Amino acid sequence: MKILVLGSAAGGGFPQWNSNAPGCRRARLGDPAALPRTQAGLAISADDKRWFLVNAAPDLREQLNRTPPLHPREGMRSSPISGVILTGADVDVIAGLLTLRERQAFTLFATRSVHDILNANPIFEVLGRDIVTREVLALDTPETAHGCTFELFAVPGKVPLYLERSDAAPSVQVDGTTVGLLVSDGQRRIFYIPGCAAMTDELASRLDGADMVFFDGTLWRDDEMVAANLGNKTGKRMGHMSFSGPDGTLAAFRSIAVNRKIIIHMNNSNPVLLADSVERAEAEAAGWIVGEDGMEFSL
Ligand code: MLT
Ligand code: MN
Repeated sequence: MKILVLGSAAGGGFPQWNSNAPGCRRARLGDPAALPRTQAGLAISADDKRWFLVNAAPDLREQLNRTPPLHPREGMRSSPISGVILTGADVDVIAGLLTLRERQAFTLFATRSVHDILNANPIFEVLGRDIVTREVLALDTPETAHGCTFELFAVPGKVPLYLERSDAAPSVQVDGTTVGLLVSDGQRRIFYIPGCAAMTDELASRLDGADMVFFDGTLWRDDEMVAANLGNKTGKRMGHMSFSGPDGTLAAFRSIAVNRKIIIHMNNSNPVLLADSVERAEAEAAGWIVGEDGMEFSL
């Protein structure tokens, strides 16, 4: 299987357009220790010919243009992209669907609740239903296409920001709106989980023995945005577990055996983005690979 990291940052990207924080300023100045990143997404193929996108970030057009395996190869109009699989309905997961509106056939895979959100919003009708098939993936039910088997499973998460109906913190749900993806070619098991509010025993045992896990790296510290005067939200309020701390990702993965673990969906406030930070050193010492746009993996 081939895996291309199209984007590695959380919503907003790095640098974020309206952030004047030191990390974003370094990224804007071209500091090689503060590499810019687009919003998270992968491309996966089992045969090098037909590709699946995992999530469609607002940066998708730029991501496709800079990735030759995803360029048209036949006739006057075509695409090696056979399908798009969604792990949620946040803006940074679905807005790039609008980039794919130029009458190109593909299959859009998502859970029932994510499809319900898309179906309720007429802007997504630009994906003509006569050529873009919307296919519901039942939770915990594998589906095979072009040599790849996909399975979506619920992880703890919250409703998308634009569907929050009050200022009160929405409760964490495990209802299939926020999901993880397992991709397999029959031999290797690869997980993509860009949003997760908590590590559960069930999730830990699911991940155990995986060949590769891309995992939610939104924040290093739950209150880092508040502490840096970047906003009033904690990671918990946004439905993301943090990397550090006793309930954090670093601690959780100490007892989960995974061959390669990659931090993805990093918010622009996360110091792990900076190659010269102590947090970067700590993550790498614990065996984590810090995701970068353009990374390629073959396994
Ligand atoms: C998230 O991951 O929490 C969301 O993408 C935030 C957002 O919608 O901007
Ligand atoms: Mn996000």
